[in-house]
Amino acid sequence: MRLVLLGPPGAGKGTQSARLMEKYHVPQLSTGDMLRAAADAATEAGLTAKAIMEKGGLVPDETVVCIVADRIAAPDAKTGFILDGFPRTVRQAEELDKMLAARSAGLDVVIELRVDDAALLARVAKRAKDTSAHGGVVRSDDNPEAVKVRLAAYHAQTAPVANFYAQRGLLKTVDGMAAVDAVTKEIEQLLDG
Ligand code: AP5
Repeated sequence: MRLVLLGPPGAGKGTQSARLMEKYHVPQLSTGDMLRAAADAATEAGLTAKAIMEKGGLVPDETVVCIVADRIAAPDAKTGFILDGFPRTVRQAEELDKMLAARSAGLDVVIELRVDDAALLARVAKRAKDTSAHGGVVRSDDNPEAVKVRLAAYHAQTAPVANFYAQRGLLKTVDGMAAVDAVTKEIEQLLDG
């Protein structure tokens, strides 16, 4: 199964990916996690990405495409994967098509989680509050200013990716406002149906 989960910040991409990878035995490829790992490792690309991510902007396509190309080539992604947070621009979607075409493979489906902006802001604020209450480290982009920039980036640069896949007959939409279990059920129905 080769699946892309599309959705704005806080839509539930990570939450749903974690559940789907268990059921379908494919890895979750989260570009956000990969970029945070690169930032923690203080690689040159990671440090550049860190400064952009903290403000809520998108990391340059070339950087992200390189990271995904490496990850997708790993043995555990041979039979499938769940892409969480990639592609985020039409250019990234075109590059993904090329990567998969080189393997004579293609995407099975692209699922877009739709959630209202107000709910997204509330979810991310709650995550930051809960993390802090449990003594964890709050993500440096989980503050109101950065979340607004992340949302604006989604509407301007990532929403066209949904049209890109709709034109190719790959896009399915799911109501991400529903409870977590109900969202999982709807996604599974799409995948199994
Ligand atoms: P990334 O790490 O991908 O973050 P994001 O897209 O902003 O998404 P989040 O991780 O905040 O949310 P999510 O949709 O995974 O929701 P979650 O399940 O956690 O990207 C971070 C940054 O990296 C970007 O801003 C950019 O700078 C850079 N980047 C990454 N990929 C890039 C790319 N391809 N190109 C360029 N730059 C890139 O849920 C959120 C909260 O809501 C949780 O607390 C959860 O418990 C709760 N929740 C989930 N589902 C529900 C539900 N149904 N009902 C109620 N609460 C729910």
